[in-house]
Parts: sequence; C-alpha cells; structure tokens
Amino acid sequence: MAGGEVWRPLLAGAWLLWLLPWASAVRRSDFPAAFLFGTATSSYQIEGAYLEGNKSLSNWDVLTHLPGRVNDGSTGDIADDHYHRFEDDVELIHSLGTNAYRLSISWARILPRGRFGKVNPAGIEFYNKLIDALLLKGIEPFVTLNHYDIPQELEDRYGAWLSAEIRRDFGHLADVCFAAFGDRVKYWVTFNEPNVVVRKGYMLGTYPPERCSPPYGSCAGGDSGTEPYLATHNIVLAHATAVEIYKRKYQSKQKGLIGIVMSTTWYEPLTDSPEDRLATERVLAFDVPWFLDPIVYGDYPPEMRQLLGSRLPTFSPEERRKLGYKLDFIGVNHYTTLYAKDCMFSAGCPLGQQTQPALVAVTEERNGIPIGPPTPMPTFYVVPDGIAKIVTYVMKRYNNLPMFITENGYAQGGDGYAHVDDWLDDQGRIQYLDAYLTKLAEVIRDGADVRGYFIWSLIDNFEWLYGYTLRFGLHYVDFQTQERKPKSSALWYKRFLQSLHEAQ
Ligand SMILES: *[C@@H]1O[C@H](CO)[C@@H](O)[C@H](O)[C@H]1NC(C)=O
Repeated sequence: MAGGEVWRPLLAGAWLLWLLPWASAVRRSDFPAAFLFGTATSSYQIEGAYLEGNKSLSNWDVLTHLPGRVNDGSTGDIADDHYHRFEDDVELIHSLGTNAYRLSISWARILPRGRFGKVNPAGIEFYNKLIDALLLKGIEPFVTLNHYDIPQELEDRYGAWLSAEIRRDFGHLADVCFAAFGDRVKYWVTFNEPNVVVRKGYMLGTYPPERCSPPYGSCAGGDSGTEPYLATHNIVLAHATAVEIYKRKYQSKQKGLIGIVMSTTWYEPLTDSPEDRLATERVLAFDVPWFLDPIVYGDYPPEMRQLLGSRLPTFSPEERRKLGYKLDFIGVNHYTTLYAKDCMFSAGCPLGQQTQPALVAVTEERNGIPIGPPTPMPTFYVVPDGIAKIVTYVMKRYNNLPMFITENGYAQGGDGYAHVDDWLDDQGRIQYLDAYLTKLAEVIRDGADVRGYFIWSLIDNFEWLYGYTLRFGLHYVDFQTQERKPKSSALWYKRFLQSLHEAQ
C-alpha cells in the first residue's frame, strides 16, 4: 500500500458514536487488468420522454401517476431527460475514465404492445445511438433487458408475471434485442433484482402491480402467500427462455455472455445461538438462491421447499430441459447488511416482514446499537465486510461462477443540504465506496472470480418510491435545469481509475 495508511474518523452527519477507521488505500491495480469498472443506471429512472418516440405506458408510468404512491409526488415523466441528453451523458461517463456502463432497455420503447404489436423503430434507434456513442468512447455497454418496467398492456391483458404467457413475451423482447444490438453488446442481463420485483410487487404490494394480502398489506387484490412464488416461477422460466434463445441462435456468432442480476443483503446472526445461525442460513436461501438455485441446479432451494412445501411450484421435464441453459455470470447488487433473528423456535415472527416466510425476523440493531453507520436510505448501513461475505457465499454456493458487482452505492438525502455545494461535497459516499472496494479487492485476492464493478449511479435520478428525495449519483443533477455537476466522488472515482498508471 503506497503512502502508508491514513486513518480518519467517519463523521456522517450527527453520527458521532462510530469512529470507523478508514484506510484510503485501495488502488485500481488491486484489481485484475481486464476488470470492468463502470456506473449503472436504468431506463425508467433516467430516460424521461415517457410519451415520446411511440413508446407505450409502462407499469411504472401508471403507478407513479396514481396519487400518493411516490413520497414527493413525483414521476419519471422527465427524470434526467436522458432520452434527449444521452450524448452529453456519454461524455460524463467518458470523463470518469470508466471502461463499461450498465444501462437497461425500456421494453415499452422497443415493443410498445409486447408481442401483440410491432417492433418500434424509434425505440431501436434510440438504443442503437446510445450503444454506438458508448463504443465510440471505448465504453463497453452492459445491457439489462428488464429493470422493473414492463409495458402496461402485458399487465392488463394477462396479469404480467402471474401468467405463463409472459415467458413468450420476454423471449420475444430478448430475441428482438439480441438481433438488433447483439453485434455490439457483449454483456446481457435478463433481469435486474427479480427478488425485489416479486416481493414488492406481490408480497408487500408497494411496487407494480400492487398485489398483496394481510398481514403484509392491504391491496385491492393478491395473495402474498402464493403469488410471489408463482411470479418467481414465471421469471425464472422467462430467464431460461431468453438464455435458450441467446445460446441457440446468437452466442456462437455474437460471442457475448448472459446472466442475471440479484439484489443481495448480507445477514449476520443476531446472537451466537444455533437458532439464529440457522435463521441466517434460511433468510439467505430465501433471497438469492430462490432464483439462482433453479437457474443453476434446476430446482428451488431445499431450505425453501422444507418450509413452503407445495406453495412452491414444480418444474415439468420440459421446463427442466430449458433450465439446462443456466447462465454465464451472476450479477450482484449489494448495499447493506442486517441482523437475522430466528422466529421459528423462539418468539413469534413480526407480522408482515418480507422475511416472514423464512421464519426470520430482521433487525437493524443489537442491544440498541445499529449494525453500522446509518445512511439516508432506510435499512442501508455501512458494513464493508458484507460485500466480501456475500461474494464468498455466492462463490461457494455456485462453484465460483463468474460474478460482477452490478450495483453498489450510497444515497444522500434528508436535511443539511442548504446549497448545491452540500450535495457536491459527498465525503460519506467516497468513504463508503473506498471501504467496499477495499473489501472487494481482498475477496478477489482470495480467489473469487469477480470481473467487474458498477457504481450506482452515474447521475442523481428517480429513486422509485423515494422519487427525487434520495440522490445516488456521482454527478449532481439540478432537476429544474437538467444541469449535471460532478460531485467529489466523481473526481475520486476518476483518480482511483487513473491509479493504475501511477508508479507503484
Ligand atoms: C410513430 O408511429 C407512427 C405510426 O406508425 C409513425 O408515422 C411515426 O413516424 C412514428 N414516430 C416516430 C417518432 O417514430
């Protein structure tokens, strides 16, 4: 480590209890030479132009236009206006010195009516221009086919993820995208965080299509005890459909890779009791392996089958054959670590938590002390070891399949931002990223096959139900003028990436 170790206290707002030692020493050269470093965004969160270029309404357009859904009453109608400003945004990406950029495709732009209508040339043209602009700057596009937003017509026609029909629609989207962009796109992701889509959409009922039942919530319709598992089944098989199309029709010519991105939380047992340690194993299995066990091994995790029995669907022989195409890499989105406490053997489970089906209670504190310094995003704590532990967990469970950290980042928000300069001076984000990258470098040194890292996010954007109140960007965005300004973290990332070329 060059220059010795610099220890500094972390002073996150009024957070004085924790003096986290911070060694600012991670370097680009701690990672493999061919490593991808990038930033990530998603279509609905940045594009805006929600009625332009013959795009149809997505499920998120519909949800955000309902009263009281988004906490600042905002929508993604304009968002970052990236649809009109993508050329400038490619310049921002280029200015960071990154070699990759993770974006997602708006399904409603490419196929406004799913497979019930034609491919939309204006949609294809937009992504063609974006992909070409990136490649011209030497930036590898890392493209997600579905990051939450789907054409509303598929919801209205057949109930979207609850229907097996969506597998064909998703396969059609994938086929159209591989054919249109696959000559230039070498990294494909089928789904972003499907574990979040099914929990928030069908268990808690807070994301489209807002389906749930007590005690998880009170929705107009739904069944929190069964629908999340049915929706998962269709997403897993939609993934398999897309991968089969890629592997049979495109991969040998186009020579790209295809994977899936999961939302991950690391869990620590609340106490050393065997019950809490078992609970930690369960809550982990009910999260990432829920999707990855079927994709990699052909069936749901035994930990889930044991508790859920016939509520988990089964795969037919034909579906198992389809699952045989598996995937080429695993994408890991990681932000936080929480405590897991058993509620199978000990006290009853708090009702309505998304971990209730695993008979696990999740807490953020032990003896009144939070698991790490809090951040403005609820349930997001700074626990850098978590990234090494979740990578090790995924590595062991899936036999060291190639991995990418497809999201990691830090939200600003709340009080204390009187002036733009307060947003630009994002020391908390720099400390977070530095600490997480340090741990990631260690776990790679220990043998994990991680091949890339993407910071969420390139620019401040529409943060789903938080609207514009939480800012994850390396660049500040003035949402009145759409002006972008680099925050301190953008300069920090750039310097970090340049450290490869500095004398060691
Ligand atoms: C939208 O679709 C209409 C009807 O097909 C077509 O005439 C028009 O040129 C399209 N607009 C754009 C921006 O592609």
